[in-house]
Amino acid sequence: MMRTAIYPGSFDPPTRGHEDLVRRSLLLADRVVVAVAVNVSKQPLFPVEERLQMLRAAIGDDPRISFQSFDGLLAEFAKRVGASVIVRGLRAISDFEYEFQMALMNRQLHPSLETVFLVPAVDLTYLSSSLVREVARFGGDVGSLVHPAVAQALASRFSR
Ligand code: PNS
Repeated sequence: MMRTAIYPGSFDPPTRGHEDLVRRSLLLADRVVVAVAVNVSKQPLFPVEERLQMLRAAIGDDPRISFQSFDGLLAEFAKRVGASVIVRGLRAISDFEYEFQMALMNRQLHPSLETVFLVPAVDLTYLSSSLVREVARFGGDVGSLVHPAVAQALASRFSR
């Protein structure tokens, strides 16, 4: 039976950490749906279409990986795409409480959907989209933290 994992997030913007997690997800599943949330409570820097484009550029073509946006509940979207596993990255203890709450809520909403936490490569554990946005906003070099297409998008967003 084909196992589908869903890797959801804001990806605002995608980082090398997200790319690492997508690759690791393929060790657990035959197919990974990278799911970009439209309606997160935060006001995103990039519109959802641009986040999808950046993800496609950063991750590249692989028939096992697809990219979709979703609105509303993740648990409902996971059902629609036939996913049995949600993949989330766990970088540090500070991530844990929020992730634990989300995993339990998603189980409440969709009992047969399991959440699996993956640990990123050690040199990427400090990395987050919000830090990347902040460094780029103030003109810092994010070249080693994101794919060149993402660095380019950040540069044009913050060009003065
Ligand atoms: O990258 P992020 O911002 O940590 O991702 C959070 C995300 C998008 C996975 C989460 O906010 C989410 O699943 N939003 C969809 C709405 C939903 O299902 N909320 C209840 C989850 S418990």
